[in-house]
Amino acid sequence: MKHIFKEGQNEKVLLLLHGTGGTEQDLLPLAGMIDPEASVLSVRGNVSENGMPRFFKRLREGVFDEEDLVERTKELNEFLDEAAAHYGFRRDQIVAAGYSNGANIAGSLLFHYEKSLLGAVLFHPMVPRRGIELPDQTGIPVFIGAGENDPICPASETQDLKSLLQASGAHVTDHWERMGHQLTEQEVRAAAEWYAAQF
Ligand code: MLT
Repeated sequence: MKHIFKEGQNEKVLLLLHGTGGTEQDLLPLAGMIDPEASVLSVRGNVSENGMPRFFKRLREGVFDEEDLVERTKELNEFLDEAAAHYGFRRDQIVAAGYSNGANIAGSLLFHYEKSLLGAVLFHPMVPRRGIELPDQTGIPVFIGAGENDPICPASETQDLKSLLQASGAHVTDHWERMGHQLTEQEVRAAAEWYAAQF
């Protein structure tokens, strides 16, 4: 997968996953705010929707192509194995930070694979898939940044995601702002505080 890797000064690796229409450049400033000493692995989604990069196909806004989601999640998980071997970082030290479509594929890693992520920062995520049993995520810390007026991720969707992750054993912290779907500096700061307390 097309990506940027920057080696850091500690063992952590921040996996950056952009929103629809973004690139691997978009979230680089976030890494500096969340953990300036971590290595950075910023990946571009392999799917193109009318030229807009995404991490998996959707049938329409908010309705995912499940088969593609499952396939692309596997592809990303395998890419993380390969990147760890190639760049020489520890595979068990990856913390994802994703926005919107990128948060959804990070959530999908948690929904499908045990021990794929050490933790996750999900900005405006949705429930990636319903009706499946999640792998054991005991003790995995997850931060959810949500907007009370987010038209793409209604509050009920965020609550559902929180409950599903908690049922798998994850420790979920949700942070709400009176905003919509946009990523705000305030929620990134809240995520950075949460991250400092976790790792
Ligand atoms: C998705 O398709 O993953 C969500 O609708 C969010 C987005 O618009 O990217």
